Amino acid sequence: MKHPILKMGDARLLRVAENVLEFDTPELHQLIADMFETMKHANGAGLAAPQIGVNLQLVIFGSSEVGRDNPRYPNAAAIPLTVLINPTITPLSEATDDAWEGCLSVPGLRGLVPRWSRLRYQGWNQFGHIIDREVEGFHARVVQHECDHLNGILYPMRIKDLSQFGYTEVLFPELDPNADD
Ligand code: NI
Repeated sequence: MKHPILKMGDARLLRVAENVLEFDTPELHQLIADMFETMKHANGAGLAAPQIGVNLQLVIFGSSEVGRDNPRYPNAAAIPLTVLINPTITPLSEATDDAWEGCLSVPGLRGLVPRWSRLRYQGWNQFGHIIDREVEGFHARVVQHECDHLNGILYPMRIKDLSQFGYTEVLFPELDPNADD
């Protein structure tokens, strides 16, 4: 079942999420199925449970169809479809990159956000199996964006120069207008 996505201004997006304590339960599998349906419908690159009002340390991201371009991020490399629970992120160097981000909870806008370039992320999937990856580039950016949601942080809070924040249709008129966010 598709859920409404909470928008910036909703206090539920500002909470610190709680750990998932039980894996491989019918409730957890249903929640994840709902999140994938919600993300796919919105053409999102990722979704965090708090964005549908569920205050748990759970994010999903990536694309099931390798090579399929997301209309919201037409130049992004494919990321494997991932369920990540109770995550931790460790930067692997001091290096950061600036790139444009959007968010399903901040529809119609994009901002230039600095993120760690390379990182290790660890956590569990829905079956309780360990996930431990070293990634860079857009994959690293998506993980940082989604995990920020678990700490009540939305990307506009990370923008260094607010002149680099604006409406998608103005900043990127070439993007598919149906991919409004
Ligand atoms: Ni977001």
